[in-house]
Amino acid sequence: MKLIRSIIAEHLGHSLIKKLYELYKVFQIATHLTAKEKYRLYQLAINKKYVLEIGSYTGASTCCFAAAMKNSGGGKVFCIDTWNNDSMSEGHRDTWKEFQSNTENYKDYLMPIRGFSTSVVDEVSAHIKSLDLLFIDGDHSYEGVKSDWKAYKHFLRSGSTVVFHDSGWAEGVKQVIAEDVIPFVSSSGCLPNMWWGVIK
Ligand SMILES: C[S@@+](CC[C@H](N)C(=O)[O-])C[C@H]1O[C@@H](n2cnc3c(N)ncnc32)[C@H](O)[C@@H]1O
Repeated sequence: MKLIRSIIAEHLGHSLIKKLYELYKVFQIATHLTAKEKYRLYQLAINKKYVLEIGSYTGASTCCFAAAMKNSGGGKVFCIDTWNNDSMSEGHRDTWKEFQSNTENYKDYLMPIRGFSTSVVDEVSAHIKSLDLLFIDGDHSYEGVKSDWKAYKHFLRSGSTVVFHDSGWAEGVKQVIAEDVIPFVSSSGCLPNMWWGVIK
């Protein structure tokens, strides 16, 4: 690995190899996100200052956002989670330490807020009034996604981006996007299991 790094560094320059190596490490964090989804999250967060994610788990999406900020002039990722593995098929467990260890390199870019998404809205409002990107990946039930959208949509402005994970298999996610989100967006894109739109 060291040899490959120094060969590439020689040919491409140290700052590019550093960035590539950082992304490589981010992509190793255990997650349900595919490599294409991780790279899309990274791309969507380039030049964004304020990102909020509901559902940070062990930090994979968090690091994609934070790495983009680090490489494009800085910003803050608000990370909302109970870190108790709520509504996950594998059952309850405390994921906080894993999150902290996986996100250690980016801690200056993060503001973790521990609690249920709909219970911490006032705490979020105390820090921030508007968001450039909102990522919803917490409770995937219809009621869960709907209440997250209702609680956080007022942070979005014209030009902000909203992203939903599990839009391919989770009926609740699909339904909320169709009923509540599509009327608010001017353009959208998708991967098989992720959907994003830009607010009108
Ligand atoms: C699918 S995982 C998120 C995956 C993560 N985005 C990643 O990149 O790997 C869902 C996370 O949402 C959290 N969660 C579920 N319901 C929640 C709620 N109502 N409020 C806050 N966190 C919640 C769970 O604890 C879990 O860590």
